[in-house]
Amino acid sequence: MSSDPIGNGTPPEDSVTIVNNASGRQVTFPVLQGTCGPKVIDVRKLYGATDMFTYDPGFTATGSCESRITFIDGEAGILLHRGYAIEELAAHSDFMEVCYLLLYGELPTIEEKDRFTHSITHHTMVHEQLHKFIDGFRRDAHPMAIMCGVVGALSAFYHDSTDIGDPYQRMVASYRMIAKMPTIAAWAFKYSLGQPFMYPRNNLNYAENFLHMMFATPAEDYEVSPVIAKALDRILILHADHEQNASTSTVRLAGSSGANPFACIAAGIASLWGPAHGGANEAVLNMLNEIGSPNRIGEFIDKAKDADHPFRLMGFGHRVYKNFDPRARLMRESCYEVLRELGIEHEPLLELALELERIALEDSYFVDRRLYPNVDFYSGIIFKAIGIPVSMFTVLFAVARTVGWVAQWNEMVEDPNQKIGRPRQLYTGYAQRGFVPLAERG
Ligand code: ACO
Repeated sequence: MSSDPIGNGTPPEDSVTIVNNASGRQVTFPVLQGTCGPKVIDVRKLYGATDMFTYDPGFTATGSCESRITFIDGEAGILLHRGYAIEELAAHSDFMEVCYLLLYGELPTIEEKDRFTHSITHHTMVHEQLHKFIDGFRRDAHPMAIMCGVVGALSAFYHDSTDIGDPYQRMVASYRMIAKMPTIAAWAFKYSLGQPFMYPRNNLNYAENFLHMMFATPAEDYEVSPVIAKALDRILILHADHEQNASTSTVRLAGSSGANPFACIAAGIASLWGPAHGGANEAVLNMLNEIGSPNRIGEFIDKAKDADHPFRLMGFGHRVYKNFDPRARLMRESCYEVLRELGIEHEPLLELALELERIALEDSYFVDRRLYPNVDFYSGIIFKAIGIPVSMFTVLFAVARTVGWVAQWNEMVEDPNQKIGRPRQLYTGYAQRGFVPLAERG
């Protein structure tokens, strides 16, 4: 990629010149081209050259970093991890392999995969003192609240992997988070039930272990169904990374100041929790339950279209996808597979979701705005079918996305161009004014 200085000499071949209509001054900026996707205008020297900032609330037209991990073509509905299509990864890979790919950039050999899986499996136990830490929460705490607190607190338990300048410590912290997240998630659930925490079992794979810790009790083993474990593994793959979304950008921004990785991932969990992001899977199920029957769909569609009403069709729309979210297609397939394997012939929520999707996709409001179902539209129905309670939906998303956050955080720390993230603003408050003593106000 070229990065010519701005405004001096001959403009680089691919460049953009802006003219300030007030002063008539022209400034030229280089245009950079990645491997795929739209070109970007390199505005790093804009302020120095023009005394102006860009203004882009919600970063709708701003590339915040250079990355080699994930690529999305929202117009075509394409999602690639390290160049591999999500459809191929979902069909032929497994979550451990995808974790390795995201972290290291290549698919592992057999030995590499065995070593990696062994290391992750042998880091799944958490510090015993975390029992007491979790005991401090109210019983009715939302599991996402427990996740934010406990993951942030890992930095107090694992001091030996918080030096971000040490590549070995960075990798230890990364493995720890990927490995321990299912344990913490399952314990957050057990705590809400008042059941004893279940320890991980090294003879189980990642998805099986999570199901075991969620559903076994000391009094009774949980027979892990291979079908359910496979479906869960696929869900984990589909949520593993998604480029510079809100939570990933939060992790990068938190990490840009040099904060330790556990604190950064806790910040990502907090961002994921919102209903406009990962919290949507919980919101979709609540919405479908509220709609209740197909004859009420019209009423909810009308509410979603009403600009004066805050209601939005949850699980619909995406900042980047202006086409079907490829993960939603795969999730819908999985939904059918899981229901078939479980012998569920009639799932009213799935039937309702399909009818809602059909009606929305024929409605000009959704068609004109290119609002399609996103990954969250179907995931809740599968979670429900495999027995995951609604309050754990977003937690599962956090478990899966941890590898993406960690890979993106490592990439940022290793980037020689990395700087503290410090956006500027369009200030519209008061200009400087004199202080008025208390007695003279009013
Ligand atoms: N229901 C009704 N209208 C919608 C919806 C929706 N779900 N999503 C977008 N719109 C409308 C907006 O009102 C707006 O209409 P207007 O142009 O008349 O004002 C237009 O579509 C564009 O929407 P924006 O809000 O500008 O799009 P943005 O990119 O900012 O938002 C978002 C994307 C947050 C995902 C949004 O579509 C939404 O809230 N969807 C529902 C929540 C959801 O499913 N989130 C999960 C996202 S995927 C993920 O995080 C894993």
